[in-house]
Amino acid sequence: MDNRREIYLDNAATSWPKPETVYQAIDHYNRQIGASPGRGSHSRTIAAGEIVLNTREKLAELFNIKDSSRIVFTENVTMAINIGLKGLLDPGDHVVISSMEHNAVARPLHALQDSGVIELTIIQCAADGSLDPCLVEQAITEKTRLVCLLHASNLTGTIMPIDAIGKIAHEKGVLFMVDAAQTAGVLPLDVQEQRIDILAFTGHKGLLGPQGTGGLYIRPGQEIRPLIEGGTGSLSEQIYQPDFMPDKLESGTPNTPGIAGLGAGVEFIQQTGLERIHSHERELTDMLIEGLRDIDGVIIYGPQDSNRQTAVVSFNIEEMDCGRVSMLLDQKYGILCRSGLHCAPLAHRTMGTLKSGACRISAGFYNTKEEIDQVVRAVYEIACSNE
Ligand SMILES: Cc1ncc(COP(=O)(O)O)c(C=O)c1O
Repeated sequence: MDNRREIYLDNAATSWPKPETVYQAIDHYNRQIGASPGRGSHSRTIAAGEIVLNTREKLAELFNIKDSSRIVFTENVTMAINIGLKGLLDPGDHVVISSMEHNAVARPLHALQDSGVIELTIIQCAADGSLDPCLVEQAITEKTRLVCLLHASNLTGTIMPIDAIGKIAHEKGVLFMVDAAQTAGVLPLDVQEQRIDILAFTGHKGLLGPQGTGGLYIRPGQEIRPLIEGGTGSLSEQIYQPDFMPDKLESGTPNTPGIAGLGAGVEFIQQTGLERIHSHERELTDMLIEGLRDIDGVIIYGPQDSNRQTAVVSFNIEEMDCGRVSMLLDQKYGILCRSGLHCAPLAHRTMGTLKSGACRISAGFYNTKEEIDQVVRAVYEIACSNE
């Protein structure tokens, strides 16, 4: 690493930096505890178990989940989504998703469709990524088992009307699953109010934990088949997977240092306040959109309104390759963002950017207004240099 000053604006991929307490919690676990949670009964295994339980309970509080044992830890939201979909869906089921989904949802469902297990309907979103709940309602048939949606797009930040869709799904007797990768830790999530039956989240983005963490909530009464079986530290005398949560879906030694860090991330969010985090990110988003809008040749995608999107702003400069723009931002200005397709070809097709890709700037709680000013100036200079 050189000593150049960098501006990290790739928080939609993974947040950085983390709160100091997150680094401390990981270090504390690694140096002072280091034992396997739920395996054996010595004092440090108990201490490790307490860390895992504490994080589970903090997450339950954040998402208004009554019984924290309904949350299972996974290595990321991709794993959580796979466990949810593959453990739930049966042959003949029909699933409804949107045209803004990430590959984490689109690929497992296409694989299930291609192998003849399910039927899939993809609802077309508008050009700014927004989704009309009426279209979801119309797509539900007698065979529909699940509506599965992301809470906010990782390409445009567009926030989906999950409250309205949760209500529709509930009224129609269809399960509702939410991919909260882009919103957990930033937007309020309440599984009861929003009637979310299955919630998948990742730990390393808005929740401010380390990579290698994530989880899945499944509402009480809803059964999910395990994707992976193995040691749980419980009922070891029996050859079958335990039938109770969370052990049923949590086999193998977990990422305890990661879970310790995730717990500290959630604690930081609770102490700071979700509203404060969100309003800071909104301020940066508005600044960025306003600044980019004034630059000739810049095309911005998505709602362009911080009331309707998260702190994710994607754009292109006319006649310029998005990879070149982000390379110049990095090499000339030390601004780190992401270009390309963002693992979301469906969303890019919706935006009309499947061929070109786009440059994505995603601010986080630790970014400042001065940094956004610098980004706008840099994009202006790059756009001018292209004339
Ligand atoms: C909406 C959405 N879903 C799923 C994912 C996958 O996240 P992870 O890599 O943590 O599994 C991402 C991350 O980019 C995302 O933005």
